[in-house]
Amino acid sequence: MKNQVNKVILAPMEGVADELMRQMLTSINHYDLCITEFVRIVDSLLPERVFYKNSPELLNNGFAKNNTPIRVQLLGQEPNWMAENANRAIELGSHGLDLNFGCPAKTVNKNRGGAVLLKTPEDIYQIVSHVRNAMPSDAILSAKIRLGFDDSSLLEEIVSAVSSANANQLTIHARTKLDGYKPPAYWHHIGRMREKTNIELIANGEIWSLNDANKCIEEAKTNNLMLGRGALALPNLANVIKRGEPPMPWSTVCHLLIEYAALELKGDKSYYFSSRLKQWLRYLKLQYPQAETLFSQIKLLKNKDEILSIVNKLSSN
Ligand SMILES: Cc1cc2nc3c(=O)[nH]c(=O)nc-3n(C[C@H](O)[C@H](O)[C@H](O)COP(=O)(O)O)c2cc1C
Repeated sequence: MKNQVNKVILAPMEGVADELMRQMLTSINHYDLCITEFVRIVDSLLPERVFYKNSPELLNNGFAKNNTPIRVQLLGQEPNWMAENANRAIELGSHGLDLNFGCPAKTVNKNRGGAVLLKTPEDIYQIVSHVRNAMPSDAILSAKIRLGFDDSSLLEEIVSAVSSANANQLTIHARTKLDGYKPPAYWHHIGRMREKTNIELIANGEIWSLNDANKCIEEAKTNNLMLGRGALALPNLANVIKRGEPPMPWSTVCHLLIEYAALELKGDKSYYFSSRLKQWLRYLKLQYPQAETLFSQIKLLKNKDEILSIVNKLSSN
């Protein structure tokens, strides 16, 4: 099937797709954009250092590797504070601003942030329009939603709230909050919205391969894709989809793990190295049986050097 993909965007993944992972993935792929982990907004204008910590790329004019623009994501429910913080992110160099209406975390939902807002499209409208009105008119405003909270019955209203508040782009993770991360993703609901709105749509959920990407494009009726866990499981997935590259062989992944280790050791999160490598291996296991073996070899190790010597041996085999 002919691949007609347009944009390929790296999904925000809190605790996983941080700056180091974004650097790694953008150094080997040509993403059109990365969305950052969310910045939680409650009732204040956050200091600049919070934005720099979340998105160190802001110090590089908002670019990751390969000149990939990054966009800060905000999560919150109070329209005025969301607007003020959105402006700050833009001033600091974020390439547009993304709003999170999909987070399923209980603590966030209890405080009326994230996916719980999908129950009240009017609140979504208020947040999006406050942020839109506060932001420079040429800055791109995007929102990220799920199909709904318990079911998809409000989807049309939610999409209409986002587009009538003049956001420029809308990513739809094609599952409800209740669905969690369980397969499948119901891409056809995005296709249904394509016929009802002119806002630029981005399809997200369960894209693990070129074949999935093609099916998603067909069902969702958009050729803009956002990759989440699939981008971690197959590190060059974006280029597989965009440029027809073959999936990366395990030997190359081993080199990547060593490079990742070097980045981690330099970064201020080096303390987390062993747990973060293990976390990545959990995703890599989904594509590479060898990752399972490596995981079992290092799972009890905490010492970075011991772990690295095992990975080094693998890469020289
Ligand atoms: C560990 C993890 C953290 C996530 N953090 C965020 C987040 O900060 N903001 C957000 O909008 N979505 C977040 N998501 C949802 C993803 O962006 C994406 O919508 C979801 O994983 C579905 O895409 P996938 O099936 O390709 O993984 C997260 C998902 C995972 C697995």
